[in-house]
Amino acid sequence: MASAEAGERLADTPAAVKLQDGSGASKTPEAEEVCNSDFEATEPAPLSKNAQKKLLKRQRYEDKKAARKASAKQEKHQATEQKKQDVQSLLEGMTEEEKAAWKEERKHVRSARKAQTQEKRSRLQQAMETGQTIVLDLSSAHLMSDLELKSMCQQIAHSYSYNVRATTPCSLHLCSFQGRMKDVLEKQIGGFENWLIHQHALAYDEVFREQKDKVVYLTADSKTTLEELQPDEVYVIGGLVDRNRFASMCLDQATAKGIRTARLPIAEYVKLTGSRVLTVNHVVDILIKWVGSHDWKAALLDSIPARKRTALEANCEGTEDSPEDALNRGSPNADGTSVVGL
Ligand SMILES: C[S@@+](CC[C@H](N)C(=O)[O-])C[C@H]1O[C@@H](n2cnc3c(N)ncnc32)[C@H](O)[C@@H]1O
Repeated sequence: MASAEAGERLADTPAAVKLQDGSGASKTPEAEEVCNSDFEATEPAPLSKNAQKKLLKRQRYEDKKAARKASAKQEKHQATEQKKQDVQSLLEGMTEEEKAAWKEERKHVRSARKAQTQEKRSRLQQAMETGQTIVLDLSSAHLMSDLELKSMCQQIAHSYSYNVRATTPCSLHLCSFQGRMKDVLEKQIGGFENWLIHQHALAYDEVFREQKDKVVYLTADSKTTLEELQPDEVYVIGGLVDRNRFASMCLDQATAKGIRTARLPIAEYVKLTGSRVLTVNHVVDILIKWVGSHDWKAALLDSIPARKRTALEANCEGTEDSPEDALNRGSPNADGTSVVGL
């Protein structure tokens, strides 16, 4: 970056004309000087103790991650080999007729699985055209650290997989999907290129410009409660992992754009141990489940991890907390709710 800026500075100087015109031999003394000072300016400054510590911590984290990955790969390989051996010994104890029947049965199971996958895909394809529109607004990617951005990608992957499994899938859109966010997601999430999801480099208010009055930005900070979803409305979720650093940011931005806002009716149906600010994947899950059931209580209980609900509400059927939840833990909410939950 520094050298690109320096390049721009150079282009403004007469010396630069020579530099761009010809070889190194045609450099003027002035140009040489600019080049040298430019070179010096881009030399890395020594790291502070704090930065060194951070780097070391990051290195250890990466090493551990690589070791975990290698051991998972090894375990998977062993499990596959074991399975092969089991099948082998099973077949060895069978008569020829039994073997044929067993193979036929396996063929049926495989084709049933394939048909199921195809059915899910065509349901999803249809949902892209006619399903309830849910938008992930990724315009705040630049505010996230690398770790938060990775967590955001995981949350998007979870959201997509909820939609794949849903009996009534929704039409998912990624808006402001470009730059660093796009790069990280494409690199981190295998098979993303096959996803049935709308992708837009443009911001949500550009993509849905014609339906502006139908757009509702969801935010825990809104004074309006979402009573029910309307099939022709567009529900926007802020694609942000911010540990509540940017409290009420989405509300402020949507209000400034003249976009309606609403909060999920959480307090009306469940008691939480902490913040009402949920992770993106939980919000998507709740919306998808509401679309399938029109039942807020069921959708909320099914989607919000048991850990975030009071003992009374958490009757063990809730999902486990994820690393994404941990990343979202932050300072207290504007309304003073504690931070035990999120
Ligand atoms: C981790 S939150 C981001 C919090 C962020 N500081 C903000 O200003 O919204 C991710 C997104 O999930 C949605 N969300 C989370 N909790 C919600 C709730 N209780 N009601 C409605 N939307 C919620 C919002 O769209 C929010 O932007």
